[in-house]
Amino acid sequence: MIAYEIVQKALRAQPRKWLVTGCAGFIGSNLLETLLKLDQQVVGIDNFSTGYECNLDEVRAFVSGEQWRRFRFIKGDIRDAAMCREAASGVDIVLHQAALGSVPRSLHDPQTTNDVNIGGFLNMLVAARDAKVSSFVYAASSSTYGDHPDLPKREDRIGRPLSPYAVTKYVNELYADVFARSYGFNAIGLRYFNVFGKRQDPNGAYAAVIPTWTAAMIRGDDVVINGDGATSRDFCYIENAVQANLLAAMAAEHDRNEIYNVAVGDTTTLRQLADMLRQELAMRGILYEKKLIYRDFRKGDVRHSQADIGKAAERLGYMPQYRVRQGLEAAMPWYIRQELAAAA
Ligand SMILES: NC(=O)c1ccc[n+]([C@@H]2O[C@H](COP(=O)([O-])OP(=O)(O)OC[C@H]3O[C@@H](n4cnc5c(N)ncnc54)[C@H](O)[C@@H]3O)[C@@H](O)[C@H]2O)c1
Repeated sequence: MIAYEIVQKALRAQPRKWLVTGCAGFIGSNLLETLLKLDQQVVGIDNFSTGYECNLDEVRAFVSGEQWRRFRFIKGDIRDAAMCREAASGVDIVLHQAALGSVPRSLHDPQTTNDVNIGGFLNMLVAARDAKVSSFVYAASSSTYGDHPDLPKREDRIGRPLSPYAVTKYVNELYADVFARSYGFNAIGLRYFNVFGKRQDPNGAYAAVIPTWTAAMIRGDDVVINGDGATSRDFCYIENAVQANLLAAMAAEHDRNEIYNVAVGDTTTLRQLADMLRQELAMRGILYEKKLIYRDFRKGDVRHSQADIGKAAERLGYMPQYRVRQGLEAAMPWYIRQELAAAA
């Protein structure tokens, strides 16, 4: 049996109480869905700044009534330390996802990104430490590699951050490490690399590339590439990220106070991505024949990003079950349904 199956079996046999912050967002709502399907008890926090009530409604539709009753939602802001303390009380495991994502957003408004991503993170860390939770797993980011030229990216070799967002995610790692050395509180940081899948927001100036382009192609709008199209990413389907969270949450003590890359280990250029999306849509009868539009490189973006996932594989038993193409195949029906519903 692979490690993920073992962990799922252990959780079913002995359910835990989880706290998922950012539970109405993309990654958080997928974690919530998986945990409820495993009959876990979950407390969720969100302030709906970039997440949606309809994401929670969708989770509710995917689980049984009994599973949904094991979920308690707190509408709250992680900048509120008292709320964090109340939410963490009696919890076994924290999966901290709440943050303001997006490099451009952080360039536009570094203060709010800092307050939420650093101040809020610290509130959660203190709350979790004081509640004596057994495990604290948090969303770190591949943006922490900054301008380091090496490929593939290895956890121990990082460069200078290229955006305020990257600074905040790096500071999270520094705080987690200081908490391990000062208080013996061992958190695990998961450096996500371009996660994609159902419930990732396709709208707004700060949306990620896959939902943005997919929605544009379905609508017949222009698809705009920042740069020459050779920029590359290690796109990671959401189910892989969910797997990494559950494995990290159950990791042995000596595998904590560590950072792990969460990706596939593949590399896809933006041009290749656009081709794949065209093909996936064509297979479902949606033809997009417009030429791609190229514009300047975007400030703060890393040029190439590809992960070495060896550390997560070796120490957590992480085995991504979806490569990019399989992830796109799995996600496409959801994107299409969303667009059709929005157009109706
Ligand atoms: N999606 C990716 O590719 C990716 C890559 C690297 C890191 N991450 C990190 O993963 C985490 C989840 O990202 P996501 O893609 O699901 O984004 P998302 O925006 O869909 O989810 C974030 C959630 O946090 C909530 N939130 C934001 N500020 C809050 C606050 N002050 N109090 C309470 N809730 C708050 C939002 O409302 C939202 O529901 C974030 O920490 C992000 O930085 C994501």
